[in-house]
Amino acid sequence: MIDQRVLPIRLWSNCSIQHALDQDVAYRGLVTVSIWDLHLDKMAKVWYNGEIVDWGSATVHVLTHALHYGTAVFEGVRCYRTNEGPSIFRLYDHVWRLINSAKIYLMNLGYEADEITEAIKETVKANDLDECYIRPIAFYGYGEMGVSPLRNKVDLAIAAWRWDAYLGKDTSTQGARCMVSSWRRINPLTLPPQAKCSANYANASLAKIEAVKAGYDEAIMLNTQGMVSEGTGENIFRVKRGVLSTPTAAAGILRGITRDTVIQLAADLGVECHRIEISREELYTADELFLCGTAAEITPIREVDGRLIGNGNYPITSEIQRAYNNAVHGRGKKHADWLSRVSSTDSDVRSNLAVTQIP
Ligand SMILES: Cc1ncc(COP(=O)(O)O)c(C=O)c1O
Repeated sequence: MIDQRVLPIRLWSNCSIQHALDQDVAYRGLVTVSIWDLHLDKMAKVWYNGEIVDWGSATVHVLTHALHYGTAVFEGVRCYRTNEGPSIFRLYDHVWRLINSAKIYLMNLGYEADEITEAIKETVKANDLDECYIRPIAFYGYGEMGVSPLRNKVDLAIAAWRWDAYLGKDTSTQGARCMVSSWRRINPLTLPPQAKCSANYANASLAKIEAVKAGYDEAIMLNTQGMVSEGTGENIFRVKRGVLSTPTAAAGILRGITRDTVIQLAADLGVECHRIEISREELYTADELFLCGTAAEITPIREVDGRLIGNGNYPITSEIQRAYNNAVHGRGKKHADWLSRVSSTDSDVRSNLAVTQIP
């Protein structure tokens, strides 16, 4: 229903939803994806600079620095239904990655880790959500135009919404169809891949657009040395003869929290796992491949550039997927400390050792 949907990007600051929809119709001749597949469910509230405000009031000025120069850092976090109530997966690790991203861009968030942690929980509570995706974003705001952001204030917002299978409805069982992108992943000499900065996603968007226009679910990006880096919003794993491997941080990846989770779950399952360089042809000859990320969770890859991966079955990926689903839903005690209950008010924020140790 039109009036329950909001466009991902509003085209004019004063546009009505219908106005924006009309504009998108004009765009539809150019892109193959209909907005009807890409809606965002409107929620009630957004946390914005320390206050809970109505969803529709969480807006920015068109001269916001980040809108022009990509100077925003953000996180993607998920909250899951558990027997203990809604619980956020690896919340502290996400908060610390946000803080580290901001540090790289000399961005003063104005909030401590425990305050951001509580604000994230408050956002979920304010929307009465039991399962959701959460998007904290810090950005250089309105103030001065010009490339240097340093004199602009930093705004912090946290939104949450329901978001199912990121790569498509059936991909978690059927596998995603991927292509190797002609766009190379950003290089640490030009943009820091470890900062989860909006600017990085201009690179990722080019690859994603190419893949979607070519009829694929996702792009796999090589780095500037021609080795496998990652998906546009996921890390990648390869299985060969029962052994798991994933590109090293030096491949220009974002060190994913899900990647780290998979490495730990593989150890629990007795599956050997290595961080190594992976070449394009090693994708084609893998027994299994999968993508992983907070949004995509564990998604098997069925095909790369028209080559079926292995024999089309994913026994090890399925095992990891099962272990991951158990962990995020709080089934089993081993990794209970990965979950933060939304209703708990503890501010037991750990040191950032957890994140800086992710290899
Ligand atoms: C480029 C990129 N790589 C990897 C990931 C996976 O990271 P995480 O598992 O922390 O969500 C993401 C998602 O945030 C991403 O955007």
